[in-house]
Amino acid sequence: MCGIVGYLGDKQAYPILLRGLKRLEYRGYDSAGIAVLNGDGIEIFKKQGKVVQMETLISDESPKAKLGIGHTRWATHGVPNDVNSHPHYSQSKRIAIIHNGIIENYTSIKEGLLKRGYTFHSDTDTEVLVNLIEDVLINEKVDLAEAVRIALNQVVGAYAIAVIEEGNYDQIVVAKKGSPLVIGLGENEYYIASDATPFIEYTKQVVYLDEEEVAVLSLKNGLEIRTIANQLKTAYVQELALELESIEKGGYDHFMLKEINEQPKSIYDTLRGRLLVDKGTISIGSFVEYEQKFLNADRIIIVACGTSWHAGLVAEYLIEDLARIPVEVEYASEFRYRNPIITERDIVIAVSQSGETADTLSAIQLAKSKGATIFGICNVVGSSIAREAHVGTYTHAGPEIGVASTKAFTAQVTVFTLIALGLARKKGTISEQLFRKLIVELDSMPDKVAQTLKVDAQSKYIASIYKDVPNCLFLGRGINFPVALEGALKLKEISYIHAEGYPAAEMKHGPIALIDEDMPTVVVAIKTEQYEKVVSNIQEIKAREGKIIAIVNEGDSVVSKIADHVIEIPEVDERLSPLLTTIPLQLISYHIAVMRGCHVDQPRNLAKSVTVE
Ligand code: G6P
Repeated sequence: MCGIVGYLGDKQAYPILLRGLKRLEYRGYDSAGIAVLNGDGIEIFKKQGKVVQMETLISDESPKAKLGIGHTRWATHGVPNDVNSHPHYSQSKRIAIIHNGIIENYTSIKEGLLKRGYTFHSDTDTEVLVNLIEDVLINEKVDLAEAVRIALNQVVGAYAIAVIEEGNYDQIVVAKKGSPLVIGLGENEYYIASDATPFIEYTKQVVYLDEEEVAVLSLKNGLEIRTIANQLKTAYVQELALELESIEKGGYDHFMLKEINEQPKSIYDTLRGRLLVDKGTISIGSFVEYEQKFLNADRIIIVACGTSWHAGLVAEYLIEDLARIPVEVEYASEFRYRNPIITERDIVIAVSQSGETADTLSAIQLAKSKGATIFGICNVVGSSIAREAHVGTYTHAGPEIGVASTKAFTAQVTVFTLIALGLARKKGTISEQLFRKLIVELDSMPDKVAQTLKVDAQSKYIASIYKDVPNCLFLGRGINFPVALEGALKLKEISYIHAEGYPAAEMKHGPIALIDEDMPTVVVAIKTEQYEKVVSNIQEIKAREGKIIAIVNEGDSVVSKIADHVIEIPEVDERLSPLLTTIPLQLISYHIAVMRGCHVDQPRNLAKSVTVE
């Protein structure tokens, strides 16, 4: 995690870095810091807390410099305090570094450096790296870029780094492995950042660094990229399709609320060009080449973390039900360490909003090494997982900035619905009639989601009643069981209320012991084959004086008589229902978090992009 940003050019660096850091705060917000290089050497301003707190260090005039780097931290090594904040100086203060990632072998490197007389002020692995670079610089008598390259050969772990050197006014050295880094090419200026959001108003020309590459940015000499094995590379310049408005709040109080409300559009954009209702077909461009592999696959393994894992669980129901291909859904972090059985006939689908989650990335690297075909479903274009996969498709949800994922989830579910229907048709496991019915209904989902968003006021009212509860249970059955998990995750992430999601029928095997008049249960109770059974579960909770908030279909006359509150949503085929049932759960969590005074977009201890294991 952590966000890094850098600038070299004709403009004043400090305001660009500051604004860039604010845009990257979703990646971590334990502390923030900026280093600028001017006639006085390298000046560092850093402080525990958010970027605005760091700003208070600058009295009247902002520092003048045309080169600088900045960092917003999600702590790994060393508690979040001023000293552990980045940037870090080397011992002599000749160089400064910012780092996103983890240097796993920092202890052994540190021991060597301590023996050679280095002292350390912070508890971070990053300070070890900057001193290693300085050590190489001095002892090998090489320039900064070469010192970085040589030092990185000794490093085990992940990094996206930017390094600057006193007196070297025309150079930033950057390198990447396992953490993202993108270079923006402006007119006689360079930007670097963890993603392109800090500089999209200045340039759309970008170069994504590949694994184990070191780049030297110089206005005089241009951009030079080498691998850490010293192989010269050609920079591949791409044009970004990202607009400034998409990363601004656009009148909403929080990014999360904006993103919840964007779902009709993000689902529409994800369907566009792929769902061709008139022709009665589904076409996912990248799929064609690998279609036979999918059709002949022994099984599909879905690996993901967090909310993306919940989308994977929804996919398990969809793909098994419609396309009759066995599906396993795995936490990426567990999958990679349990010596899984993977064969060349397996398809591994990695689902990731950011495309940078370290565990998911490592999981697909493992599966790839065993010969599986890797399919990536990512939201961030050009991200590491998207590039590591053999093939894949994007969820066109647009930038998601609120740490709690909302529109990315529904976009992932949309992509999986397309995949399941597409495969089912090719395999002949779905009748033409059902296929037609489902694609027409899928096509109407953006409108139905828009209709569902009208439950906002009611969700807010319910939130006002339950905002102070210490615990909350979420229940769902079948394809809505993952929705219950996702509802519970949303609530705990942003409001810090303890919440658990369960399959409704499992309630009897434990959670029912928790039910009393202070324990609300949110139940997805839409019309399905299991409806009567869910109604019985609701009765069981009511019999123990538990409070029920039920998500039901419009016109429901049974649950509405028993539940304390009902939220009505449009009726759709159960297979498509997660796209709707999830909306009120997002809204209830959002309003509860706001009412509790929580920092909705940047909840404590979390980060949007988890690039550490
Ligand atoms: C973090 C985020 C979650 C996200 C998860 C997986 O925990 O806070 O919102 O679901 O990472 O991220 P990914 O980018 O791989 O979907």
